[in-house]
Amino acid sequence: MEKKERNSFTGSLGFVMAAAASAVGLGNIWRFPYLAARDGGGLFLVIYLILAVSFGFALLISEIAIGRKTRQSPLTAYGELSRKWKPLGLIACIVPMMILPYYCVIGGWVIKYFLAFLTGSGAQAAGDSYFTDFITDTESPVIMMIIFLLITMIIVLAGVNNGIEKFSKTAMPVLVMLIIVISVFSLTISHQDADGTVRTGLQGLKILLIPDLSSVTLSGLLTTIMDAMGQLFYSLSIAMGIMIAYGSYMKDGDSIEKSVTQIEIFDTSIAFLAGVMIIPAVYVFRGKEGLEASGPGLMFVSLPKVFSEMGPMGNLVGCMFFALVLFAAATSSVSILEAVVSSFMDHFRIERKKATLIEFVIALCLAVIVCLGYNRLYFEVTLPNGAVGQILDIMDYISNNLLMPIVSIGTCILIGWVLKPDSIIAEITKNGEKFRRRKLFVIMLRYVAPILLLILLLIALGLNPLNRLIK
Ligand code: PHE
Repeated sequence: MEKKERNSFTGSLGFVMAAAASAVGLGNIWRFPYLAARDGGGLFLVIYLILAVSFGFALLISEIAIGRKTRQSPLTAYGELSRKWKPLGLIACIVPMMILPYYCVIGGWVIKYFLAFLTGSGAQAAGDSYFTDFITDTESPVIMMIIFLLITMIIVLAGVNNGIEKFSKTAMPVLVMLIIVISVFSLTISHQDADGTVRTGLQGLKILLIPDLSSVTLSGLLTTIMDAMGQLFYSLSIAMGIMIAYGSYMKDGDSIEKSVTQIEIFDTSIAFLAGVMIIPAVYVFRGKEGLEASGPGLMFVSLPKVFSEMGPMGNLVGCMFFALVLFAAATSSVSILEAVVSSFMDHFRIERKKATLIEFVIALCLAVIVCLGYNRLYFEVTLPNGAVGQILDIMDYISNNLLMPIVSIGTCILIGWVLKPDSIIAEITKNGEKFRRRKLFVIMLRYVAPILLLILLLIALGLNPLNRLIK
C-alpha cells in the first residue's frame, strides 16, 4: 500500500498552540467562571488545579500519545492499537460529528452579537427579548451559522500547517491580549444602585478568589469535585478525538509531557482570566443574583446588559468581548472539524478537500435542524439529568454527558489494563526523556480516572451514586 507522508506541526510550539487553541473555548468563558463563583470561589479553583495536574494530565497525555504512536485519526487509531477495540474509535469519531453542528450554531450567535456591538447597536442587544427574538427567527441564525461553518471549513481546508497552526498562532495571542485588557477594565469599575449600595470590581474579584468555607458540607464538597472534573474534562477537549488527531501530527522528537503541562497551564490561565473578566463585571452591575446565570443565559442575556450599563464604553468593551469569544469558538471548532476530517481521510483514504466537503455538508444539515429546534421544530424535553432543553441540548447531552465519558472510560481500560500503561509510556519516553509523573499517570489511568468518570456518567444518567453515600 502506498503511504503518503503525514502532515505534522512545525514543532513543539505549533503543536502546543493548536492544542491550547482547541482547549480554550466556550467552556472556559461561559462555564468556568460561573462554576467557580457558585462552588465556593477559591475552593473550586484549588480542586480544579489538583484535578488538572492529575486526572486531566493522565487523560490528555494518553490521547496525545495514542495519536502519535499510531499516526492515525481517532476513527482508526483504536483499531490499530487492538482490533477488538475498533468500535471505540467509531464513537470517538461520532462525538465531534455531533458537537460540530451545534457548536457552529452557537458560533453563529457569537457572530451576531459581535456585529451588533461592532455597529454600535449594543443597547438593542441588551433588550429583554433580543436573544429569544433572534434564535426563534427562521433565517438569521441559519445565515450566521453558515458564516461560522464556512470560516471553520476554510481554515481546515488550508491544512495542518498553513491552516490550523497558523490560525492558532495568530488568534491565541490576540485572544490573550483582549482578555487581559477587559479583565483589567473589569477590576476598575464600580457602580452605585438606586438605594445607594456601591459595588466595586475588587469586591467581585474576592468572590472568585476567596474560598467560601462557611457553607462547606460533605455533599457540597462532592458536588464541587464532580463539577470541577466535568468542567476539566470538557475544557481540555478530551474524548472528542481531537487530541488523538493532533497527537498524530506531533513530531517524534517533541516532548509530550512538557507539551501537556503547557497546554494545561494555558487552558487553566485563560479560564481563570475569564473569571476575572466576567465575575467582577457581572457582580458590579447585577449583584450576587447576576452570577446565577451560566451558558447562553450569561453570554447572550446578562453580559450584554452589563455592557450597556457601562455607558459609552459599553459598545467597545462588548465588541472586544465578542471578538474574543469568536476567536475562542473558531479555534475550537476548527479542531472538531479536523478530528472528523482526519478520520475520513485515514479511513476512506480520501484527500483533505473531499473529506472536508463531505463533513461540511453533514454538519450543515444537522446545524440547520438545530436552528429549527427553536422555531419550526420547537419542543421541550426533560433530559435524564434533569435539564430541560431543545435539539441543541439533546445533542450536547448525548455527546458530552454520555458518549465522552464512555470514550474516556474505554481509553482508560484499554491503555491501563488491556495493553498496559507501558505501551504508552514507551511512546512518551521515546525521545530519551524521563517521564517524571509516571507513577501518578499509572495510578490515575488504572484506578482513579475510570472510577471518577463512571460516577460522572451515572450522574448524567440521573443515578447519582453520591446521594446514597451522603444519606
Ligand atoms: N475545550 C473546549 C472548551 O472549553 C470545548 C470544545 C473544544 C468543544 C472543541 C468542542 C470542541 O470550550
